[in-house]
Amino acid sequence: MKKAWWKEAVVYQIYPRSFMDSNGDGIGDIPGIISKLDYLKDLGVDVVWLSPVYKSPNKDNGYDISDYCGIMDEFGTFADWEELVRQMHARGLKLVMDLVVNHSSDQHKWFVEARKSKDNPYRDYYIWRDPKPDGSLPNNWTSHFSGPAWTFDETTGQYYLHLFCKEQPDLNWENAAMRHDIYDMLRFWLDRGVDGFRMDVLQGYAKAPGLPDGAPVPGGPIGQEYFANQPRIHDYVQEMTREVFSKYDIMTVGETGGVKLEDARLYTGEDRGEVNMVFQFEHVDLGDEHSPKWFSPERVDIPALKKILSKWQTGLDGCGWNSLYFSNHDQPRQVSRFGDDGRYRVESAKMLATLLHTQQGTPYIYQGEELGMTNMAFPDISCYQDVQILNAWQEFVVEGGADPARMMRGIHLRGRDNARTPMQWSDQANAGFTSGKPWLGVNPNYKTINAEAEAKDPDSVLSYYKLLIAKRKKTPVVVYGSFREYEPENPYLYLYEREYEGQRLFVVLNMTGEERPLTLPEGVSAAGAECYIANYPDPALDRYTLRPYEAMAYLLQ
Ligand code: GLC
Ligand code: CA
Repeated sequence: MKKAWWKEAVVYQIYPRSFMDSNGDGIGDIPGIISKLDYLKDLGVDVVWLSPVYKSPNKDNGYDISDYCGIMDEFGTFADWEELVRQMHARGLKLVMDLVVNHSSDQHKWFVEARKSKDNPYRDYYIWRDPKPDGSLPNNWTSHFSGPAWTFDETTGQYYLHLFCKEQPDLNWENAAMRHDIYDMLRFWLDRGVDGFRMDVLQGYAKAPGLPDGAPVPGGPIGQEYFANQPRIHDYVQEMTREVFSKYDIMTVGETGGVKLEDARLYTGEDRGEVNMVFQFEHVDLGDEHSPKWFSPERVDIPALKKILSKWQTGLDGCGWNSLYFSNHDQPRQVSRFGDDGRYRVESAKMLATLLHTQQGTPYIYQGEELGMTNMAFPDISCYQDVQILNAWQEFVVEGGADPARMMRGIHLRGRDNARTPMQWSDQANAGFTSGKPWLGVNPNYKTINAEAEAKDPDSVLSYYKLLIAKRKKTPVVVYGSFREYEPENPYLYLYEREYEGQRLFVVLNMTGEERPLTLPEGVSAAGAECYIANYPDPALDRYTLRPYEAMAYLLQ
């Protein structure tokens, strides 16, 4: 297997709005990030993926961009951004920027022009269709943020396509002029020191010719089979790589909703000239197959989860590369969803971390995950800010008549604002995030769960993450080792082994809150095994009973 810095790296995601506010307006900003770079350095991460900081009307918190080369006023100035790059590079940290080019904002000058007339030079930068002869929508596709994926534009009497909210019109990737404008923009950032891109909604750039109607799906959106991971996408990514990415030593990771293993082999195959890795969604979407995520079962099925993770481990081994994550700004807090955010918060947060940092792939840490931050159940819909939550509430409760209490439970479990509450720095007012009024409520558990307290505690989740990251740097088997699972049917334990150039790492995870018996698989011996990491004191491979959420990894003789 080829070696690469981005395989060995650990990535930390910053959601700038919620990370650190420097000027008391309640909104995180770039100077705030700069003030916390030493914290990241101390944690040991190599790369920061920064969610969008570009100019944006903030219908979707920066994922609706009105100027790809400008910095959002709330976040600071261009000079602040340049200072951020300088200070990061001085510390040996790399900066991966978010690239949001499936769609722009409706305030982007391209769209402002495009909607003026059918013969405007920018018209074809977007996707326009006439109403059907009976006046109805061009097709039945629905948006990821509720409602139809089409909005009628009065001025020119046509509909435009938007896979997200109506203020996020989809760009037309069939248009070469549009693509080349995007490439110029990529060079603009790369020439200023950017070390890579996380490509938002990469799965969506290419749409099926003719935009056919999709089959009805209970959870929606309808039409995915025609707007996600279409064959043409690979042409676009290869062109992008040829024209731009291949000229720089950078890291690229695609967000690819709905991606299947076979697609991922194409996206990430080392000889295909596409991207380094993609984010797959099967594990985080577990349970959503038959209904919208707001009404999914509360607990995930452990064997099903193991099966997905292991399939991706073996499926890309030697031919592609995995991104390892449970959390990001679109997902609930991992300890709340996959662990136990009450009695066993610390143990289960460490167990999940052990899983992510001992599989093959590049681990991603979402801000606050390293503290074991938890979901935040706001009491009322009016406390929420996320456009996806608010639109879904409108669709299911206000218009659809769903039980508001049931929907609220779904929001508490799965809503995106769980991940967006301010970062918990200390036990001071507003968790030390701001001296003003935070844009989204702070989780009151910051009094005990915060970076300052955890930095002083050798048994904290934070200390455990530091250890995991430091050990990875010295242990090639963790990065490059092959993957082999034991007892896939075990409903409680996840057992696997990594192997690389004679080094073997054996991992045991109790994924439940009860004690569970362990039988060492044939060929695995406790004799001479050296503990790599463990989340309880006095770990032992031959004790045979695992404590709740116990995690251990051993280098075998
Ligand atoms: C991606 C982003 C998400 C955003 C959406 C539209 O899924 O991660 O936050 O809402 O794209 O840009
Ligand atoms: Ca601010």
